Amino acid sequence: MPDADNQEKRTGGRILFVDDEVNILRALRRLFMDDEFTVFTAGSGKEALQLLENEEEMGVIVSDQRMPEMSGVDFLEKSKKVAPHSVRILLTGYADINAATDAINRASAWRYLHKPWDDEELLQTALEAFKFYNLLKENKRLTALVLKQNEELKSWTNELETLVQQQTLELTTNNAALQKLNSKLFQNFKKTILAFSSLLEMRDQSMRSHSRNIAEVMRRVAADLQMDKKEVDTLVAASFLHDIGKIGIPDLMLHTEESQLNQHERQEYNKHAVRGQTAVGGIDELHEAGKLIRHHHERYDGLGFPDRLKKNEIPLGARLIAIADFVDRELRRQCADSPLDKVCQLVEKEAGAAFDPRLVPKVLKVARKFYHQNQPSGKASELEINPQDLAINMVVSRDVLSGTGVLLLSKGTVLSSKNIEVLKRYYQVDPAKNGIFIAQAASTSAQTPLSRPPE
Ligand SMILES: [Fe+2]
Ligand SMILES: [Fe+2]
Repeated sequence: MPDADNQEKRTGGRILFVDDEVNILRALRRLFMDDEFTVFTAGSGKEALQLLENEEEMGVIVSDQRMPEMSGVDFLEKSKKVAPHSVRILLTGYADINAATDAINRASAWRYLHKPWDDEELLQTALEAFKFYNLLKENKRLTALVLKQNEELKSWTNELETLVQQQTLELTTNNAALQKLNSKLFQNFKKTILAFSSLLEMRDQSMRSHSRNIAEVMRRVAADLQMDKKEVDTLVAASFLHDIGKIGIPDLMLHTEESQLNQHERQEYNKHAVRGQTAVGGIDELHEAGKLIRHHHERYDGLGFPDRLKKNEIPLGARLIAIADFVDRELRRQCADSPLDKVCQLVEKEAGAAFDPRLVPKVLKVARKFYHQNQPSGKASELEINPQDLAINMVVSRDVLSGTGVLLLSKGTVLSSKNIEVLKRYYQVDPAKNGIFIAQAASTSAQTPLSRPPE
């Protein structure tokens, strides 16, 4: 039976002595009673195993080797099952080296001590054994803590991942909606630019399609020069609106040849560049385009207006628009057999004077190709016919306007049954003075780029 006098002195330091001799157990109890141990004793291996099953875990178990029925090594080996974490010590006689070896190999004993023992040595060993036990216990506690924290961390990580995924999904959805809205806004913005540009063309019919032609030439040049999207948008918007400042010019002046203007009129005319910039200046998105509008009449040699900038002081876009603007205006004035060749010669002559010599060939290359198909003066071979005579696949060679100047079809449009029907209806309610001009050699392109707004 376990010793009934076992009483806990401290919360830690539970030690079990197992020996078949009552005197030895008594001596051991005496030895340990003054220290910080709670002493348990058992008279055999069997009793000790029972005690271990019923009591809380022992920190240290010290067993005699030579006992009847069950040896100390056998007991310690069995104790591993019921008290796996206890530190085991075997007491053996001097000559019992085999028992010591078995104790280590089979019973996982931590130490073995000789009998008769030295009191001081036994006490010291017991203290060290408790230190070792406590270390193992702490290690076990910390390992469990780390595992628990790892689990928590894993759980947090999963929660965080889910949260991030949810937020990413929300952001993606919001982003898509925002992009859609942006795209719609931008489309409206482009339509507004086109509408402004059309307003000016409605006032000055001799310059119909002028801005659109320049915008298309500029778009192609910008592509050749590999400009980025923002620069292209700015250049095209400025091309559409470059003469918007002319809206304030009196009709008479607007229809007078530039060379025929008197000094006062010329001063007034020259203001259109600055007025154009002012008109669009309040719109953030057109701020950069406004600069190009201001400077589209500067000359490379510094003799232009309004600021007499020269060479690279003139923004690149303005230098490009200046060339395209000249080409389109001159083509409307030329009566030569080959107006395009003639205009290109004039531009080349001005390279280094009015125009940037490095940009002249780049713009002319595009302009030649563009105007080869889209003569603004209507000198290409064409027929004027009544709406009743229109047929599908005919190509409109001039812009088609209603009697009050509404643009019904852009030059280059290939007629479909639907737009023939619309034209006939318009000609009944708002008849134009002339018929519809049709190119004699029908083009197969669905619509020339003239009618495209800036992208
Ligand atoms: Fe101008
Ligand atoms: Fe112009």
